[in-house]
Amino acid sequence: MSVDLAGVRLPSPMMTASGCAANGREMHRFVDVAELGAFVTKSVKLGAVSGRGTPRMAETDSGMLNSIGLQGPGVQAFVERDLAWLHSVGARVVVSVAGSTASEFAAVARTVCRSPYASAVAAIEVNISCPNVANRGLVFACDPASSHKVLTLVREEVPRGIPMLAKLSPDVTDITEIAAAVLRAGAHGLTMINTLLGVVIDPVRLRPHLAGTTGGLSGPAIRPVAVRAIWQVTAAMRDGRIPTVPVVGAGGVRTGADALELVAAGASAIQVGTAAFNDPTAPVRVGHELAADLERRGITRLADVVGIAHDGG
Ligand code: DOR
Repeated sequence: MSVDLAGVRLPSPMMTASGCAANGREMHRFVDVAELGAFVTKSVKLGAVSGRGTPRMAETDSGMLNSIGLQGPGVQAFVERDLAWLHSVGARVVVSVAGSTASEFAAVARTVCRSPYASAVAAIEVNISCPNVANRGLVFACDPASSHKVLTLVREEVPRGIPMLAKLSPDVTDITEIAAAVLRAGAHGLTMINTLLGVVIDPVRLRPHLAGTTGGLSGPAIRPVAVRAIWQVTAAMRDGRIPTVPVVGAGGVRTGADALELVAAGASAIQVGTAAFNDPTAPVRVGHELAADLERRGITRLADVVGIAHDGG
C-alpha cells in the first residue's frame, strides 16, 4: 500500500484532510499519527488570524458546512509548536500553506522549508481554494492567472525533494483549466477537492446559520463532486492535454469502499477529513479497509487500480 508521491515514498496512501485534525495532538490520543501516510496540517498563514465570526459550523443531513476563515497562530508559532511536535512523534507532514497574496504564500512556504523541522515535511500543499475569504475576496483557484502566480512564487521557496501540491476548488467552470495553470507553474501534484460553497438557513430564525453567510460543504454530499473533479483531470492527463502528476483525492470519504471509488477515478492517495470528527481513527481505519478490499480482489499494488475506471471493457 506504499505510494510514490512525486518522488516521496509514503508507507500508506492515507492522509488527514487539511483543517480536520488541527495539528495532530488530539488525534494522536486515539491513533498514532505516524501510522498515516502523511498528516496534513491546518492551512497556515504568515501572521495570526482570528478567523470569521461565530457560529462558523453547521451540520446538515449530508455533511458539514464550515466558515472558519483560516484561523491560526501564524507560521512562526506553527513551526515552533506544531511542526516541532509532529517532527518529534515521527510523522510525515504535508504542510498546508495559505496567504492573502501570492507573496504571502511564498513567505509561509519559505519559513516552513527553512525551519529546523523541514526534514519532517513530506510535501507542501498550496491551499489556493479556501472558500471562506473576505467578502468578494480572491479565491485564487477560481482564476488560472492567480493560481499560476501563487504556485510560481511558492515553487521558488520549496527545495528539490519536497513536492508541491496544489489544492483545487470544485467551484469552477473548468477544473482542468486550473489544473493546467498550476502544472505550468511547476506543481508536482494536485489535491482535489476543497469544500463546495454552500449556505444553510436557520429553520427558526429564517436567516443564514453561519455568521459569514456562506461556508464550505464537506462530507458525503460532496463525494460525487470529488469523483467528478478527479475524473475530469485524470481524463485530461490520460489524453495528454495536461502533464500526468499524482492526484490526492479528498471529499466525503468515510470507508475503504469510498476511498477505492476515488482511487478508481484517478487518485493515488486519499485524504479523510469530515469523517474524523466522529471517529478520529477514520483516516487510519479507512486505510485498513482499503487494503482488505484490495486483498479480497487479489490486487497487490494500489497503483494497479489507480484510474482503472477509465479503462474500457
Ligand atoms: O472549507 C474550508 N475551510 N476550506 C479551506 O480551505 C479553509 C477552511 C477555513 O479555514 O475556512
